[in-house]
Amino acid sequence: MLLLCIETSCDETAAAVVRDGRTVLSSVVASQIDIHAEYGGVVPEIASRKHLESIDFVVEQALNEAGTAIEDMEGIVVTRGPGLIGALLVGVCTAKGLAIGRGIPLVAVNHIEAHLLAILLEQEVAFPFVALVVSGGHTHLYEVRGVGQYRTLGQTIDDAAGEAFDKVGKLMGIPYPGGAHIDRLAGQGNPRAISFPRPLLHDGSLNFSFSGLKTAVMTHLRRHPEYASQALLPDLCASFQEAVCQVLTGKAASALERTGCSRLVVAGGVACNSGLRSAMKNLAEKKGVSVYFPSPGLCADNAAMLGVPGDFYHERGITGLGFDAVPNWPLDTISTELETRP
Ligand code: KG4
Ligand code: ZN
Repeated sequence: MLLLCIETSCDETAAAVVRDGRTVLSSVVASQIDIHAEYGGVVPEIASRKHLESIDFVVEQALNEAGTAIEDMEGIVVTRGPGLIGALLVGVCTAKGLAIGRGIPLVAVNHIEAHLLAILLEQEVAFPFVALVVSGGHTHLYEVRGVGQYRTLGQTIDDAAGEAFDKVGKLMGIPYPGGAHIDRLAGQGNPRAISFPRPLLHDGSLNFSFSGLKTAVMTHLRRHPEYASQALLPDLCASFQEAVCQVLTGKAASALERTGCSRLVVAGGVACNSGLRSAMKNLAEKKGVSVYFPSPGLCADNAAMLGVPGDFYHERGITGLGFDAVPNWPLDTISTELETRP
């Protein structure tokens, strides 16, 4: 089964050709980061316009790099949500046009679902597993019992983990998006230099909160402006990153205990973070569980990850043109939607 996948939920215009939901024949990602960096964050209207400019070329390139043509495609897969509505619309309209034009089925996929299943493009992970999705817009813990079977265990009550990295980066004068820069600087700093709070770590819930941690960094910088200097910035980055990683690791450990799962998948852009990767590996060794991270290209936004759920739903005939792009689409509702399908 050859599927063309299209992703435009935020600031990457992406297309991929995936065979049988497992083999990536091509994956093209056109990033808009340089444009949004000027504004210190994603500007939704600019994102939509840039998607519109790039989408045809990106789709064509994905087909070319895979050595295929649109006539070879047996279905189209597209991100329906969650994301920026104007950005999503570009992908959804393009996908509908291609599906109608070619007379092939169209599959609508959830962006978060695609993130947490991306690992299956690289290795087999048996169900059930706990998934921690940490990106610029999401910090969620799920119990995943199969494709389409998700239960939310916890989520952020304010900022997402990636958002916290990016906002703290801004306070430090680091270019947007700050995550990867903070990660690199943290590698040269002392994680115990500053004692930042670990929000909600011991509150008994599986929820997260990062806005207080951002305020703590701001307060620290106000009291100790010398930490913005080249000499001390690595310590600030390392201490902030350590706090985020401890919270994420602690909550993931509680989720594994509560569900009885022995497998943990970490996905989304923040899963690229080297501190998080090593903290999770330590957790795995201590608890005797298995932790899986997709390689960095599959952690960040891409279209190849849509191939996994896309192929599953296509095979079961869960296709159609009668849907709109949606800015919010909680994963739990997918199981119910599938059960109640005629
Ligand atoms: O999944 P993603 O590409 O897009 C969304 O769906 O949001 O995630 C982007 C987020 C940004 O907030 C970025 O700063 C963060 O992932 N990020 C990182 C790292 N690489 C990317 N955060 C921490 N450490 C990194 N190495
Ligand atoms: Zn994403």
